[in-house]
Amino acid sequence: MKIATKFIRAGAEPDPSTGAIMTPIYQTSTYVQEAPGKNKGFEYARSQNPTRKALEEALAVIENGKYGLAFSSGVAATDAVIKLLQPGDEVIAASDMYGGTYRLFTKIFEKFGIKFLYTDTTNVENVKKLITANTKLIWLETPTNPLMNITDIAAVATISKEANALLCVDNTFASPYLQNPLELGADIVMHSSTKYLGGHSDVIQGALVMNDADLREKLYFIQKSCGAVPGPMDCFLVLRGIKTLHLRMQQHCLNGEKIAHWLRANPKVDKVYWPGFEDHPGFAVARKQMRGFGGMISFTLKDESIANATKVMSSTKLFSLAESLGGVESLINHPASMTHASIPREERIKNGLADSLIRLSVGIEDGDDLVEDLANAIG
Ligand SMILES: Cc1ncc(COP(=O)(O)O)c(C=O)c1O
Repeated sequence: MKIATKFIRAGAEPDPSTGAIMTPIYQTSTYVQEAPGKNKGFEYARSQNPTRKALEEALAVIENGKYGLAFSSGVAATDAVIKLLQPGDEVIAASDMYGGTYRLFTKIFEKFGIKFLYTDTTNVENVKKLITANTKLIWLETPTNPLMNITDIAAVATISKEANALLCVDNTFASPYLQNPLELGADIVMHSSTKYLGGHSDVIQGALVMNDADLREKLYFIQKSCGAVPGPMDCFLVLRGIKTLHLRMQQHCLNGEKIAHWLRANPKVDKVYWPGFEDHPGFAVARKQMRGFGGMISFTLKDESIANATKVMSSTKLFSLAESLGGVESLINHPASMTHASIPREERIKNGLADSLIRLSVGIEDGDDLVEDLANAIG
């Protein structure tokens, strides 16, 4: 099946009890059993729910994997992956990644004896240097949030296999339409489904996709034991979002390209971070492992003052000032005070995340209207 057919058909079997073409929202906490232990495959909704099952099948299909698991948020999905580990295990992670992932690693899991080592993963030699006998997991984000750094997934997969460590890739920014890390050798793909998969800024959810049956069993055990499962209504919304992911992503990419080039040509704009520029350090790798460059862009202004950046962020009319990304509507964000506030300032600056950096989640409105909105705000 080609991608458009696949996204529409993924997980979409008519409901066996009624023939309903759309998976019903099975709003139930439990299921009646005929006799103790005799049931229809569903016992209690933390462990199984038909709407969630349809979504989990869809997640596997769209990531070209075998098994999907849905969680109550993206960080809950990340949390489940780290719970595969034991005290003393080491994780190598990208130094520039979503602030909430960094917070989970440093503020929650470090105290349980898991060691996190951060490095610039865009140079795979840096990853290699940190491998020890205790390395159990490599955590990548590519493109990264918010600096759009690109890491060669296949090259890191070679290293993780040699080290007998798992490779998990946060694929939130690219979405399965643009990038499929399992095909490049990753063991687990993670998504904040809140973003492009849901696509309409109306749900918080996370996902994991994998090929290995044992790994699926371990992660399913964590999912049902720790209980961070999404409700059926939220699963329905993400299932619906997936059906138009390909169309939305095509428009996100077109608008993203238009705005990235427009920003770069604007005399008031300094740096523009977007992996589709031929001189972006990750361009060759992005072209190799992605089908397009997406609608996420970050930039700084020549007048780098926070006051000036704040003025721009408060002046846009179509770009709404808000956290999150990946919805049909355009958003503008200040990573230093919003999405990445949980990273200490010195860490942020060291990794190139300036106080005045502005991040755009370019939506699927008319591209010319979006350019005009930015033109009015930047002045
Ligand atoms: C790249 C990335 N990963 C993970 C997350 C966490 O997902 P959630 O907010 O759904 O818990 C986010 C949220 O912004 C994100 O941008």
